[in-house]
Formats: sequence, structure tokens, C-alpha cells
Amino acid sequence: MSIIISPSLLSVDFLDLKTELERLNSVDDLWLHLDVMDGHFVPNLTFGEPVLNKIQTISKHKLDAHFMVTNPEFYVESFKKVGLHNFTYHWEAVSQHEELIAKIKMTYPSAGISLKPNTPISVLPLSILSKIDVILIMSVEPGFGGQKFMPESIDKIIALDQIRHENKLQFQIQVDGGISDANAGYLIQAGANNLVAGSYIFSEPNKDYAQRINKIR
Ligand code: DX5
Ligand code: ZN
Repeated sequence: MSIIISPSLLSVDFLDLKTELERLNSVDDLWLHLDVMDGHFVPNLTFGEPVLNKIQTISKHKLDAHFMVTNPEFYVESFKKVGLHNFTYHWEAVSQHEELIAKIKMTYPSAGISLKPNTPISVLPLSILSKIDVILIMSVEPGFGGQKFMPESIDKIIALDQIRHENKLQFQIQVDGGISDANAGYLIQAGANNLVAGSYIFSEPNKDYAQRINKIR
């Protein structure tokens, strides 16, 4: 599996969003990570459908939406017009997973499940792992950019990679939170294929984001 880097929009200069998206368009093979927060599942609030609808007209990258929301079912419907590639919801927000995953798969090319740092991978039955395209391991508490990477997440990635291997499954392991060139190598070695990074990429002083992305690569 190839490695995907997913810059997180949360850390861009929103006053200059168009230019920021154009800067990312000069780099290939990215997913654009979009953190949708509802101020309820997490205390923070970000952006919704009207903003993402505009973003899809400019970004050339696959749109990867990470829904930190209490009712993801609602968003499957309401984001239909946004050309999302991947729709990830939080395991902790839902009890009827099979139904929700079926809905997501009917609407979008890729379905993902995210686990908060305290949610063990043992919650995920094989029946779900065999249907899902992305498992997102949070390496910080969801809700804010710029937090410190939690090294405990590496053991979760190793264990999940082993389950994937033993059962010949295909899902990607994505990791999100506190990722930089300092820990990317360990995450890939552990089995991750998709790294989300916000503050590390967008704090590049000359806005040379390709440089930070290449450093992660
Ligand atoms: C946090 C979000 C992340 C965030 C990552 O809840 O899910 O995607 O933007 O930001 P950094 O890379 O700064 O930790
Ligand atoms: Zn995220």
C-alpha cells in the first residue's frame, strides 16, 4: 500500500483559503483532511457543508472528511453534494454501525471509522473491519489542532496492522494528531498508510508546504 499524506485544513490561513488550497494543488498524491466539528461531540466548532462545497471547486485532491459529530447519519445525507472521497465518523458517536456504514458506502467511495485515544481496537469486530476502507487512529484527543502526539497510539497501530495482515484485509490505517517528520517514520513502520498533519505542515514560515510534506514522506 502506498503512503498518503493528508494535510489538515484546520491549520490553514482561513482569510487566504483560496491561495492555501492552490498551494496544496502544487503537490501530488494528497488527501485533503477536513475536520468537521459540531461543538457537541467535541467542544470545538469548525466548518460545514457550505464551506466544503466551495472548497471542492478549487482543490484537486481527494476530500477526506473527519466527522467529529454526535449524529453522523445526518451528515451522510446533508453532504451529498460535496464531492467527498472519504467519510469518516467516530465509533463512539454511534451504536448502529452496520446500517450507517452501508449508507456511507452507498453515497461515497470510501468509508472510515475513527477511534479516540481511549477507545481500544478490540471494539472493532471483523465483520466491520472487512467492510470499512479506513480506520483512523487518533493520536490526540479530537477537537483541536497543535496538540502533542500520544506515543501510546503506536501500539494500537501495530495491533491493528497485525489483525489486517492475519485476516488479509485491505483497510488503510490513518493516524491523526501531532504528526511531524519526527514521528512519521515510526508510524509507517508500525503499519500506518495515511498520515494527517496540520500544524506541522502549515507552520512552514515561507508557506512552502511541499517542503514539509516531503519531509514527512
Ligand atoms: C484534531 C483533528 C486533526 C488536527 C490535526 O481533532 O482531527 O485533524 O487538525 O492537527 P495537528 O497535526 O496540528 O495535530
Ligand atoms: Zn482530523
